Amino acid sequence: MGKTHVAGAGVDLALRVNGCPRRLHVDSRVTLLDALREDLGLTGTKKGCDQGACGACTVLLDGKRVVSCLVLAAQCDGRDVTTIEGLARDGQLHPVQEAFIRHDGFQCGYCTPGQIMSAVALLQEGRAGSDEEIREFMSGNLCRCGAYPNIVAAIREAAGRQGE
Ligand code: FES
Ligand code: FES
Repeated sequence: MGKTHVAGAGVDLALRVNGCPRRLHVDSRVTLLDALREDLGLTGTKKGCDQGACGACTVLLDGKRVVSCLVLAAQCDGRDVTTIEGLARDGQLHPVQEAFIRHDGFQCGYCTPGQIMSAVALLQEGRAGSDEEIREFMSGNLCRCGAYPNIVAAIREAAGRQGE
């Protein structure tokens, strides 16, 4: 699905994306997902269902995970957005990214940015106490390829737990 073609009021926004101040002028009805992909060129965040049902578009908003297809860009004025492009530090992948690679936590990779952003938030939320808990709190992130066992293994490792 593309951006809405119905003209709406324009809004000026100032937000931080991956630590950098960004200014945007967007239609008031544009989603954060479309603003990231189409206005800021950050295409790592994927569009799956565009209806809040698949988790492919998960990003962190003020440190909390959100499905960016259900957030209006206009709601993000003055806020802090982190996308998959913002996880690496000084050329070093985030531990969750490294764990996904080690455990083959993906096949086609389409759901992977959303899975990783959700996993980063899950670890911050302290929801990696067991494989069952990981599965429950990752349940909003769907994977058509069925990579779930490897995704759970990657998150378990990133959480520093031994296999259960
Ligand atoms: S694209 Fe946002 S939840 Fe599916
Ligand atoms: S790796 Fe293909 S959809 Fe998840």
